[in-house]
Amino acid sequence: MKIGLIGAGRIGAFHAQTLASQADITELRIADVDVDRAKSVAESTGASTATDADELVRWADAIVIAASTDTHADLITLGAEAGLPVFCEKPITLDLETTNRVLERVNTADIPLQIGFQRRFDPGFTAARDMLASGQLGRLYMAKLNTYDPEPAHDAYIKVSGGMFVDMLVHDFDLIRWVSGQEVVEVTAAGRALTGNPAFEQADDVDTAVAVLQLADGAMAVVSGVRHDPRGYDVRLEMHGSRDAVAAGINAQMPLKLLDDNDQWENGNEHQTFLERFESSYRQELNTFLKVAQGQMDSPCTGEDAGEALRLALVAKKSLRERRPVLVEEIR
Ligand SMILES: NC(=O)c1ccc[n+]([C@@H]2O[C@H](COP(=O)([O-])OP(=O)(O)OC[C@H]3O[C@@H](n4cnc5c(N)ncnc54)[C@H](O)[C@@H]3O)[C@@H](O)[C@H]2O)c1
Repeated sequence: MKIGLIGAGRIGAFHAQTLASQADITELRIADVDVDRAKSVAESTGASTATDADELVRWADAIVIAASTDTHADLITLGAEAGLPVFCEKPITLDLETTNRVLERVNTADIPLQIGFQRRFDPGFTAARDMLASGQLGRLYMAKLNTYDPEPAHDAYIKVSGGMFVDMLVHDFDLIRWVSGQEVVEVTAAGRALTGNPAFEQADDVDTAVAVLQLADGAMAVVSGVRHDPRGYDVRLEMHGSRDAVAAGINAQMPLKLLDDNDQWENGNEHQTFLERFESSYRQELNTFLKVAQGQMDSPCTGEDAGEALRLALVAKKSLRERRPVLVEEIR
């Protein structure tokens, strides 16, 4: 299979390594508006370069989009119109109208689209989902999800990110739907700017936030996030049910000092970046995409899933602004 990779930045360079190591891929070509970046990633992975995305879609059997967020809608549409299977990093875009427009094009073209919510490929989260689905956890009472970033992104990024819920906690909103197999019906959110970085207030954004979610069957979930964690990158999930309680993300690399007789965890080996924390998940999602692209399975994370996660993030944003619980159906 010939794969075209569009975007060779932080995540694109990582995806290039995974793609280059796949036996199913006969040739990898990379395009980036930063030509030197494309060249450097191509050299380090044995790939070649293309002038732009148009050239890639004329040549490739499938495309992987890892360019900046503001390009995703157009690039997915370009891939769809060429009839190619598309993998695209999250998000499709930052608003629901554009998301729906893109999904119409995708559905009309009838191409497979997989969005990069890599947490669906994390072994611990997968085990939690399987245990709930098989009945081992019993009835779900409560789920707790958190995402703590080591450092806020740079100021220019904060300005255009869409805000804490849309940019960062959207992963948790996708995860709760996937892991519970349920839709969220109501969100109550709160948040503050506490890290001292004025860029958050200037962008009408927060850096410390929580959202309380009501699931369709009445179960509760709490999503929390902080943009600054001095210990590292911390993403965890807890699920408490009527028959068992489980957690994923609690291991020797968890960036949290445990105060109860756990000296062995003080190993200085805490996860510092999302690439470290989810390395195997990022690899697994692309391996899966190759199967999707070859028609061996359906997309495990569709554009519609991405649209729903975005909707929950926008509902949380509305709840924060209006200081009230917001029904998910209020935003369509
Ligand atoms: N799933 C995840 O956990 C995860 C993690 C990081 C980033 N992302 C997403 O991946 C995307 C890229 O993020 P990043 O951190 O790698 O950003 P980045 O800024 O490091 O890289 C983006 C690259 O896209 C290139 N680019 C911009 N417009 C282009 C175009 N029209 N054609 C080709 N290349 C173009 C830029 O030159 C740059 O090299 C973002 O949408 C982000 O939300 C997802």
